[in-house]
Amino acid sequence: MIFPSVALATALASIGAGVVNAQTTPASGSATAASSKASTAASSTATSSTYSESDVPTGIPLPGNYAGLLRPQVHYSPPVGFMNDPNGMFVDQEGLYHLYYQYNPTEEVAGNVHWGHATSEDLYTWTNQPIALFPGAPGEGIFSGSAVIDVNNTSGFFPNQTNGVVAVYTLNTAEKQTQEIAYSYDNGYSFIKYSGNPVIDSNTTQFRDPKVIWYAPTERWVMVVAYPVDFKVGIFSSPDLKNWTAESNVTHYGITGLQYECPNMVELPVVSENSSLPSTLWALQISINPGAPLGGSIAQYFLGTFNGTHFEALDSTTRLTDFAKDNYAGQYFYNIPADQDQVSINWASNWQYTNIVPTAQEGFRSSMSVPRGHYIADLERVGLSLISYPYNISSIVGNELASNSSLGNGTVVVDYSGVESGALYFEANITNLGDASSLSGTLNFTFLSSATGEYVSGGTFISSGDVWLNRGHTGALSDNPYFTDKFSQTALYDPTIGSWNISGIIDRSIIEVFVNGGVLGATSVFFPTQPLDLMILKVEGVNESATVSVGVWSLRASWLDQADGDGIVSGNVTTAANRTNTTSSVSDSMEALRLF
Ligand SMILES: *[C@@H]1O[C@H](CO)[C@@H](O)[C@H](O)[C@H]1NC(C)=O
Ligand SMILES: *[C@@H]1O[C@H](CO)[C@@H](O)[C@H](O)[C@H]1NC(C)=O
Ligand SMILES: *[C@@H]1O[C@H](CO)[C@@H](O)[C@H](O)[C@H]1NC(C)=O
Ligand SMILES: *[C@@H]1O[C@H](CO)[C@@H](O)[C@H](O)[C@H]1NC(C)=O
Ligand SMILES: *[C@@H]1O[C@H](CO)[C@@H](O)[C@H](O)[C@H]1NC(C)=O
Ligand SMILES: *[C@@H]1O[C@H](CO)[C@@H](O)[C@H](O)[C@H]1NC(C)=O
Ligand SMILES: *[C@@H]1O[C@H](CO)[C@@H](O)[C@H](O)[C@H]1NC(C)=O
Ligand SMILES: *[C@@H]1O[C@H](CO)[C@@H](O)[C@H](O)[C@H]1NC(C)=O
Ligand SMILES: *[C@@H]1O[C@H](CO)[C@@H](O)[C@H](O)[C@H]1NC(C)=O
Ligand SMILES: *[C@@H]1O[C@H](CO)[C@@H](O)[C@H](O)[C@H]1NC(C)=O
Ligand SMILES: *[C@@H]1O[C@H](CO)[C@@H](O)[C@H](O)[C@H]1NC(C)=O
Ligand SMILES: *[C@@H]1O[C@H](CO)[C@@H](O)[C@H](O)[C@H]1NC(C)=O
Repeated sequence: MIFPSVALATALASIGAGVVNAQTTPASGSATAASSKASTAASSTATSSTYSESDVPTGIPLPGNYAGLLRPQVHYSPPVGFMNDPNGMFVDQEGLYHLYYQYNPTEEVAGNVHWGHATSEDLYTWTNQPIALFPGAPGEGIFSGSAVIDVNNTSGFFPNQTNGVVAVYTLNTAEKQTQEIAYSYDNGYSFIKYSGNPVIDSNTTQFRDPKVIWYAPTERWVMVVAYPVDFKVGIFSSPDLKNWTAESNVTHYGITGLQYECPNMVELPVVSENSSLPSTLWALQISINPGAPLGGSIAQYFLGTFNGTHFEALDSTTRLTDFAKDNYAGQYFYNIPADQDQVSINWASNWQYTNIVPTAQEGFRSSMSVPRGHYIADLERVGLSLISYPYNISSIVGNELASNSSLGNGTVVVDYSGVESGALYFEANITNLGDASSLSGTLNFTFLSSATGEYVSGGTFISSGDVWLNRGHTGALSDNPYFTDKFSQTALYDPTIGSWNISGIIDRSIIEVFVNGGVLGATSVFFPTQPLDLMILKVEGVNESATVSVGVWSLRASWLDQADGDGIVSGNVTTAANRTNTTSSVSDSMEALRLF
């Protein structure tokens, strides 16, 4: 069946690129849309590096309408079509962040996978760039992977430069998944596929998502890559990004679900006064889907040591990165020094319902999380934990909408219907709490639509440390059994700190809540039928000595700021549109998109 994509056709028409030949079949239902790894069945001999099954232009970004009611304004979302895993994340030598992503430019469902691309100086204000990697033939998908800067020209691709970029990704075909590389002379805007691909061959359709780092002590590149259905993460090493040696496997760690995906291995600073701890530790992060404890997809991590060939966990504890359901496939930027907080971006969705969320009305599906800063802290009783906080939001903070440094038992009401972005940042500090026995009271927040009464709410019980979030009172998907409505988790009060802190970012159709500076985090999408425009923050029953300090700020509309009068963002339009080769037999040679 052929499903023309009206949104993309409209968008392309606006740049004169014509009507697309969209061809994929949407996933049949949320429950079976279990994996990012769409595979198409077709054979091919074509090898053009810009082949697209869908007549998508090269050399120019796709335009998209960013004015919709559900369209986040401080989060990355693709101009049109469907996005899943973040890929290839690196910060270049000028400090510009590059984000690539699993991208179906022709439909708002998973499939037809390219690498979309965007860049940012501040991680909140993004410039859409031309698609960076196209499938080479019908039935191919450029699946998830990573990117590195080959500063020493270990690969031999870059005799004349120190800023050559190598992307390492999974080539998916109906027969197998193999690891391939492509190199870029122009800082990651365009890539040439290596003629010696694959760099790691296989005979299996279950071998994907290479994440590569440089390990200086052994002067080797190190790759972690998933054998999803074997519940293994393979560790490979290479001197040159071309010749890879299998060193070890991490097998059956933590929650297996039904698949491991998108592993990361990252060295993180340890922030602690305990001098017996090392200054850095390694985290192995593994995404699992389906089979997360709350259903569908989530990510877990293990803290440990790495010696160039083997990862060893410090303990047998499984820790999750998030207490809600929309945080998957997170990746850490390459090229942030190990003594600094590391930064990740995560896909803010869940395979249980991602293919049916109502943002398709606005021509797109999925957004990323805000960037998360990470370090390891040694928490009271809980011990070593990954901290995840919203990374430096200063560049997008707008007006202070409310501020009260001695709220006590009280209420703050903010009408933010006049905030163009519809996005807010808020934080509340409850200080002078004293010892654990004197804790009392609750703090709640509600974001409400004055038009429909729909709302998203959350709060904290200070005495127990419980934190909750409820997205169940917004229109769409509320009857969907997988669209879990309530989430909660518990943090432990530390009397040596004596305070409790809750903060959050709400952005039209996504909310992220953080407790005690990122000890806990929740990422949750929601889909109101009218904008949420009224915030109510209420405190009750806090003990006499406690001080409650609250601030609420508007956030800048980083997408609308770059849109034309119709809400269209064109991105980095530096070259004329260039359509890829259109083969009339595409739809005939394609079989239905299969998700497994
Ligand atoms: C446009 O297509 C032509 C012919 O395939 C190719 O030589 C050229 O590099 C392309 N330009 C861009 C910007 O992709
Ligand atoms: C590097 O520079 C040399 C000398 O100018 C040139 O011959 C060669 O083609 C360049 N190589 C690449 C990969 O650009
Ligand atoms: C794939 O299977 C063939 C046939 O058994 C074998 O010759 C080849 O070495 C295998 N390739 C890999 C990468 O395992
Ligand atoms: C580049 O070479 C320097 C000097 O040998 C070495 O210290 C560094 O680790 C290398 N880095 C990469 C990314 O190759
Ligand atoms: C690949 O690396 C291994 C181990 O370092 C080495 O023995 C082998 O010769 C290399 N192969 C090629 C083709 O460079
Ligand atoms: C890791 O596991 C994979 C999949 O089971 C297997 O093919 C491979 O040989 C193992 N590698 C090592 C180094 O043990
Ligand atoms: C890394 O650790 C593994 C497992 O403990 C060990 O076998 C190996 O020799 C170590 N390698 C180095 C370079 O220390
Ligand atoms: C916050 O919500 C909880 C759960 O519904 C409720 O028990 C508590 O009384 C509320 N507190 C405030 C200040 O509204
Ligand atoms: C808040 O209200 C409680 C009674 O519910 C009271 O005991 C407490 O003193 C009040 N706290 C402040 C800071 O006024
Ligand atoms: C909350 O506490 C943090 C850390 O001390 C501080 O930076 C921030 O300004 C405080 N926020 C409010 C609203 O008081
Ligand atoms: C646009 O892309 C070119 C590479 O094609 C790059 O050099 C330039 O910096 C980009 N401009 C912006 C604003 O992203
Ligand atoms: C387009 O693809 C067809 C079939 O592969 C090929 O014959 C033709 O030369 C291609 N045209 C261009 C401009 O690349």
